[in-house]
Amino acid sequence: MIQPIYLDNAATSPPAPEVVEAMTHCYTTSYGNASSLHSHGREARQAVEESRESIAVHLGVQPEEIVFTAGATEANNLALIGTAFSSGDRKHLITTSIEHHAVLHTIEWLKTRGFDATILDVDPTGRIDPAQVREAIRPDTLLVSVMAGNNEIGTIQPLDEIAAICHERGVLVHSDAVQALGKIPLPMDAVDLLSISAHKFHGPKGVGFLFVRKGVKLTPILHGGGHERGRRSGTENVAGIVGMGVAAGLAFDEQPAASDRLRAYRDRMIDTITQLPGTRLNGDREKSLPHIANFSFEAIEGESLVMRLDERGIAVSTGSACSSPNLEPSHVLVAIGVPLSMAHGSLRVSTGRQTTEQEIDTFLDILPKVVEDLRSISPFKVGE
Ligand SMILES: Cc1ncc(COP(=O)(O)O)c(C=O)c1O
Repeated sequence: MIQPIYLDNAATSPPAPEVVEAMTHCYTTSYGNASSLHSHGREARQAVEESRESIAVHLGVQPEEIVFTAGATEANNLALIGTAFSSGDRKHLITTSIEHHAVLHTIEWLKTRGFDATILDVDPTGRIDPAQVREAIRPDTLLVSVMAGNNEIGTIQPLDEIAAICHERGVLVHSDAVQALGKIPLPMDAVDLLSISAHKFHGPKGVGFLFVRKGVKLTPILHGGGHERGRRSGTENVAGIVGMGVAAGLAFDEQPAASDRLRAYRDRMIDTITQLPGTRLNGDREKSLPHIANFSFEAIEGESLVMRLDERGIAVSTGSACSSPNLEPSHVLVAIGVPLSMAHGSLRVSTGRQTTEQEIDTFLDILPKVVEDLRSISPFKVGE
């Protein structure tokens, strides 16, 4: 029987056993509504607040600065729409061309509601130069949103320098740090708002949070019972929040060691795969998240590569999982200038806590054979 090898942790990661155990306990014993006055409710409230407290301690922030959400799509929407609708005369936002669609599409929507935006181009490795931010800031700029590390190519952005420029001009800084937690230190000193999603670090799906620095004005986007200090209405996802707290604790504790281990896997993959003819690394070799590597292969369709590897028990993705059913080339690869033919032949490999050296060996043994096989039936030739 083929042993499955899961190398798609940037799309989602398997929940840690400790997370499943804590959530099961919660579903079976602390099932109260955290707003109820009786003992079941109080127990649920305690579980929610303990999780908030533990996350805040790990981040070095205040518990009141954490707003629980149903994941990072909501956290990004709340950060951007929530500050935009509290912004007074400041109606201009700045972001980059390689953000997740949860940022880019929200900004597009804000443009239909009287706001303006500048989308900064990135260099061929996917980085923006802080000088570009300085030039783009206008007197009416409200916020700059720059992700900590890219979910498709892994590139890390110079957030400290960007934030210093923004804060000189009274501009807020938001970062989508979904792929960063547990992989690199989070840029907490640089940001005013930061989005996180639990399922990217071995927690449950459908739960995340937005860090909102004290004093930042935020108009809620969900209205109702006034939960989360009026910033996010809706009955708390108690088990999800507890699971996220456990997952975050594990991820923070292991971060430096995990980072070194996953980076060593990434280096090996890059060294081996870029030796194959007609192959390139997309993104930056050094300034990258340790768990994401993105390659392009000439004369091959990424979808065929994913399907052939899947037949051999290996799960990887082409582009980002959120847009995989869509055959348009990834906006990130287009933005860093990957030629269209090569953007179509892209593969994202992303490792996680459960990844072993042996799995990387197996992947690196199978991949060249699959590439050669697909090229032998391709109408295109390498180097054409
Ligand atoms: C960088 C980034 N931002 C936002 C999201 C969306 O997060 P969620 O699945 O929690 O809505 C993802 C997930 O694909 C992501 O990788």
